[in-house]
Amino acid sequence: MELGMRLERVRTNLNAEEQSAIDRLIEWLRIPSISTDPAYRAEVRRAAEWAADRLRDAGLAPELRETGTPGAPGHPIVWAHHPGPAGYSGPHVLFYGHYDVQPPDPLELWESPPFEPVIKPAERGEDVPGERVVARGAVDDKGQVASFLEALRAWHAEAGEIPVRLTVLLEGEEESGSVNLERFVKEHDAHLRSCDVCVISDTGMLARGEPAITYGVRGLAYTEVILHGPNQDLHSGMWGGRCPNPINELSKVLARLWDQDRRVTIPGFYDDVLEPTPEERRAWADLPLDYPAMLGKIGLTKEADIGEKGWTALEREWARPTCDINGIVGGYTGKGAKTVIPTHASAKISFRLVADQDPGKIVRAFRGWLDANTPPGCRWEFIDHGGGFPGTVSTDSPYLAAARGALEAAAGGKQAHLIKSGGSIPVVGLLKGQLGLDTLLIGFGLDDDRVHSPNEKFELDCFRLGMHTHACLLSEFAEMGG
Ligand code: BES
Ligand code: MN
Ligand code: MN
Repeated sequence: MELGMRLERVRTNLNAEEQSAIDRLIEWLRIPSISTDPAYRAEVRRAAEWAADRLRDAGLAPELRETGTPGAPGHPIVWAHHPGPAGYSGPHVLFYGHYDVQPPDPLELWESPPFEPVIKPAERGEDVPGERVVARGAVDDKGQVASFLEALRAWHAEAGEIPVRLTVLLEGEEESGSVNLERFVKEHDAHLRSCDVCVISDTGMLARGEPAITYGVRGLAYTEVILHGPNQDLHSGMWGGRCPNPINELSKVLARLWDQDRRVTIPGFYDDVLEPTPEERRAWADLPLDYPAMLGKIGLTKEADIGEKGWTALEREWARPTCDINGIVGGYTGKGAKTVIPTHASAKISFRLVADQDPGKIVRAFRGWLDANTPPGCRWEFIDHGGGFPGTVSTDSPYLAAARGALEAAAGGKQAHLIKSGGSIPVVGLLKGQLGLDTLLIGFGLDDDRVHSPNEKFELDCFRLGMHTHACLLSEFAEMGG
């Protein structure tokens, strides 16, 4: 049967099987695969096995590949390879996704338990959530990976075969820094080198009903600093004003990380930054986005549109590096008052990076700056929490054209926007840096999906679009072979 006819049957299958696809996703979402917390080790593996079972249902022969070292075991990678139909001459496609999720905390802010998925009805009004599944991992990333798994299932069911040469790599440590991924990629160098393009669904659309392809994600460098002062907690009456208070001193140093224009003050921080082109800035300015409304949704007014001077909100998210304090602790944080000068104070500090910044170089520059700004009598302790390179995708590849075609076919003729994202997906930079492999980021999330937050959701319209896009994309790739 001709490819186009087979695709039609696959899409009919997706429509007919929609309810069971949702039921399957719910089953997966019930497994609390929190990779950062050792207490959930067995659950993480169970989520990997669940995904492997779905790949098996689609006619593949998946394996769980162990990661890490005997002393520091990691979470398994779900790995499967399908050679493609006999005589196949199209691209070898790598599909990457992650089956681990963020911790659900704070639990009390969830309207329903994070691992007891519920379907909520559409809300009324303009730009409000449609029918959706609410659970931790709904959009990041199980729901999006499930849209791909369903496309595989439907192709296998209707056409008897997946029409492309395909390798599937599902990671279980993305949300905890992908610490074992680099080694895995090195160990599978030869195989991965034979891939022509990577496909990832782990980003968002421009807006509801506005599909998009993401051509850049930011990098990340995550650090923790502890400022040590006196060797014991002290009475602030006897010692206040006589010796360094690590909280006072840490706050003062951290406050100097930004200047009047909200630019990061670390020497060399902007050295390797590749600025967006005037054409990009023009194209972004034309995107149909309502910035005051976006601030309104997070409870802020338009006065809150602050950041590095000289750049718009979108430019600051997509094309400028930033520094954020993600946590800060010290001294007495319990109920009531305690007059204390603590021995130490600490902060978690991360940098979002853009092309061509190098996370290692940024971390070294930050340490150098801290050393140069050590408060008198104090000492820094420094912990590196890893991160990843920024990922940029070429916008003129035949693969991107295939992705545009697939999205357009799945979205009923609607053209896909080309966007960037402020988030980070370490594997993108890793594949590009180690293997020169380009990625297609085709995401189906929405801005108000509450990624990493309580009441995370994935809208069923987005799930549908994801399933159909992946079904069409497989056909587009198969066609590239001629
Ligand atoms: N899927 C996200 C990245 C993302 C979020 C892309 C929102 C686009 C929009 C991914 O799972 C993630 O959370 N990445 C982490 C980085 C990681 C090293 C912990 C991030 O961006 O903080
Ligand atoms: Mn993700
Ligand atoms: Mn995430």
